[in-house]
Amino acid sequence: MTELNQITLTRPDDWHLHLRDGAALAAVLPHTARQFGRAIVMPNLKPPVITVADAAAYRQRILTALPAGLSFEPLMTLYLTDTTPVVEIAKAVDSGFVKAVKLFPAGATTNSDSGVTSIEKTYAVLAEMEKLGLPLLVHGEETDPAIDIFDREAAFIERTLEPLLKRFPGLKVVMEHITTADAADFVKSAGAQLAATVTAHHLLLNRNAMFTGGLRPYHYCLPVLKAEKHRQAVVATATSGNPKFFLGTDSAPHPRSAKETAIAAGGCFSAFAALELYAQIFEQAGALEKLEAFASFYGADFYGLPRNTSKITLKKETWQIPASLPYLDNDPVVPLFAGETICWKMS
Ligand code: DOR
Ligand code: ZN
Repeated sequence: MTELNQITLTRPDDWHLHLRDGAALAAVLPHTARQFGRAIVMPNLKPPVITVADAAAYRQRILTALPAGLSFEPLMTLYLTDTTPVVEIAKAVDSGFVKAVKLFPAGATTNSDSGVTSIEKTYAVLAEMEKLGLPLLVHGEETDPAIDIFDREAAFIERTLEPLLKRFPGLKVVMEHITTADAADFVKSAGAQLAATVTAHHLLLNRNAMFTGGLRPYHYCLPVLKAEKHRQAVVATATSGNPKFFLGTDSAPHPRSAKETAIAAGGCFSAFAALELYAQIFEQAGALEKLEAFASFYGADFYGLPRNTSKITLKKETWQIPASLPYLDNDPVVPLFAGETICWKMS
């Protein structure tokens, strides 16, 4: 087999991204905008992005923070709460820039305190989204503390997701950052209403990475990394060319002070070298020719958006990910795989 030294792809999009706000936003946005044409921007700010007016203001802050010369389109989301008014959905669709609504089960992850406490409370909103064609993005983990943390995704499928898809068969749903064979199989077997995003870190790492030589906060994210058999199932699925699975980094920066502490925040900052990491996985899986559709076609198709037309090039080149990058004052962000060598580089 001949080894490829260079690949050219349609400019990709990131269908799941945390950009934060203020100085943090200004620090991380250029990393994403350099690689991706668009991104679905998560609404879990403090306070969360709940209304279309919140989303409009946040979108403006993103565009203001965008360095000159980079073209990037933020695709906004609303944070679903127990009390989201039904009328907000038509407003979201009419805005043209709100592309989805995000369900965080209350307590599931960073800034999810205002999340949904019980799914029934959102039925009227979900019915309206089904009617108007606005997708629901789910953080698919059950929050019942009695459930083992490694089983929360599988439990969510059984208790919440499967009944939800039956109740709203016309609702488009994206199961975000899938981590298990259970999720991969479920998404494959469900109808066209359901798709999934896959992160680079869940493709590259298994749960041992959280404990190698000691506790590793930079490998702690939510959903947590899973056992190797699950990682392999997710890799096989993501690299198979199935259009229900597409790129979503879930890049989630936290300052070093929030990671190197007794209770470390969950999230991997992968935006710095996101595309290169995906290229590495697809190459390892012998599926480099499937990368473009995963990164640049399937997400746009699912959301009913045009595919990008410009191109980017990745070269086979060994380089080292920096130890840290500027983030907050005297409080940098440590990128995923800091100090390690990777083998693809975007030119
Ligand atoms: O690891 C994560 N970090 N998972 C999430 O769901 C949220 C995110 C964050 O906002 O930090
Ligand atoms: Zn996320």
